[in-house]
Amino acid sequence: MPTTVRAVQSKTGEEPITMLTAYDAVTAELVDEQGIDVILVGDSLGNTVLGYDSTIPVTVDQTVSHTAAVSRAVDDALVVADMPFLSYGHDDRASIENAGRMMKEAGANAVKIESGPHTVELTERMVQLGIPVMAHLGLTPQRVNQLGYARQGTTEEAAADMLELAREHEEAGAFSLVLEHVPANVARLITEELDIPTIGIGAGPDCDGQVLVVDDAVGLSDWTPSFVREFGKLREQMSEAIGAYRDAVESGEFPAEEHSHVEEDLDGLY
Ligand code: KIV
Repeated sequence: MPTTVRAVQSKTGEEPITMLTAYDAVTAELVDEQGIDVILVGDSLGNTVLGYDSTIPVTVDQTVSHTAAVSRAVDDALVVADMPFLSYGHDDRASIENAGRMMKEAGANAVKIESGPHTVELTERMVQLGIPVMAHLGLTPQRVNQLGYARQGTTEEAAADMLELAREHEEAGAFSLVLEHVPANVARLITEELDIPTIGIGAGPDCDGQVLVVDDAVGLSDWTPSFVREFGKLREQMSEAIGAYRDAVESGEFPAEEHSHVEEDLDGLY
């Protein structure tokens, strides 16, 4: 039985909610096996897997395809599809149809939306229709061309605006809120003020849960933001394994006898 948004919410204030991104079936299976509560098919897909230098070019079709791969591999975690840039917010009908594709075609349990004043009513409408919505405030990478990747909520006014928007999204029915790259004390205040769980990334230890991009967490990325801790060295290990394969082929050491099959009857056929 997959985790529901209610099951995730029931951990609020009791135990930390764990969330990681995944973009493919193998990674999703490993993440799920480790008992992570929520798997986000983030639009960080653009940077991590698709080779773009921002999330802007990611399309609905790409997100549907990667979310479907993740959904097929997951038994327990809640799968959340990240709505890509301009797939929501400008037209309610298109937004809802795109979110519907994430759930109907790709098997997502919920969608995440980079939030702002323009997504409050949309969140309410989606929730009314049965689409669970995870809100996202603070650094919202789809606004890179306006804001860059700077920490957000760093002035009294900006922090107050963020709290107000957080409340509005909670009232609109969002089931949780990602807070990205905001001061830890602002994230703590917002967490205390809301009933829905906050999930932090670069937002300090007091959120109800934490999320990281899986490539960063396992040490596969070539660069990580200051708030990331690498829990593995996958990039180094993969690189060494690839080099070892190249050496073994070049030296003739691979494939060895145990990797080959000889059909005796065919000896001397020609
Ligand atoms: O796209 C993503 O991976 C995200 C997380 C960093 C929250 O939005």
